[in-house]
Amino acid sequence: MIVFKDICKTYIMGDEQVHALDHANIHIKQGEFVSIIGPSGSGKSTLMNIMGCLDTASSGEYYLDGMPIERYSEKALAKIRNKKIGFIFQSFNLISTMTAEENVELPLIYQGVRASERKARVKEALEMVDLYSRRGHTPNQMSGGQQQRVAIARAMAAKPSLFLADEPTGNLDSATGKQIMSIFKELNKQGNTIVLITHDDSVACQAQRSIRIMDGKVSDIAYDENGEQVAPMRGGTV
Ligand SMILES: Nc1ncnc2c1ncn2[C@@H]1O[C@H](COP(=O)(O)OP(=O)(O)O)[C@@H](O)[C@H]1O
Ligand SMILES: [Mg+2]
Repeated sequence: MIVFKDICKTYIMGDEQVHALDHANIHIKQGEFVSIIGPSGSGKSTLMNIMGCLDTASSGEYYLDGMPIERYSEKALAKIRNKKIGFIFQSFNLISTMTAEENVELPLIYQGVRASERKARVKEALEMVDLYSRRGHTPNQMSGGQQQRVAIARAMAAKPSLFLADEPTGNLDSATGKQIMSIFKELNKQGNTIVLITHDDSVACQAQRSIRIMDGKVSDIAYDENGEQVAPMRGGTV
């Protein structure tokens, strides 16, 4: 479902070139739960922006569900994003004046989903994250963990084919972070594809597979059931 072929992203800063992604080859199948781990400045956000069709590569090819992404217009990409990708951010990005229910419903209004279907989807999504009883609360009436659960429900309700989460537990304490991870695991069990970006090994190892990024170069890591690294890092397609 996700294929990166020799993706490079170069930022030009005056006379200097920053190779934020350096010939990245990645292959993620439908239904996988993959974490992407790397330190600050390694290229994670650049990778997420390209994977999420928010930015395009300098060179290389990106196929999402077989579609050659670099050949689409900005307008077409916006449509693809709305339809296919559920974003979850470190800072939740909820609208502060809207209730949980309204936040979850909003993207469905943009998508043109009719009212009765919207209502059903909002209920199902808020129930999945165990917040239906708090549907009338605004973000400032909820904890960070609850806000992130609303953000996950918002992504779910739009029925994306890919969940893309950038440091979703980065602003949460570790117990709350675990709750959030268990929701991602449940979503994955239901057949959803999840790509989760983190700088935290204890988060990364909860995915089925990790891709490490270092100075814009990717390599894979595998974990056993105890979260111990079992395969050495290696280059090539991951
Ligand atoms: N818009 C930009 N212009 C110039 N350099 C950038 C830009 N965005 C990111 N970079 C550089 O690209 C590299 C990777 O950044 P980023 O993808 O944000 O890494 P991470 O998310 O892992 O911290 C860094 O060296 C960063 O300074
Ligand atoms: Mg980043």
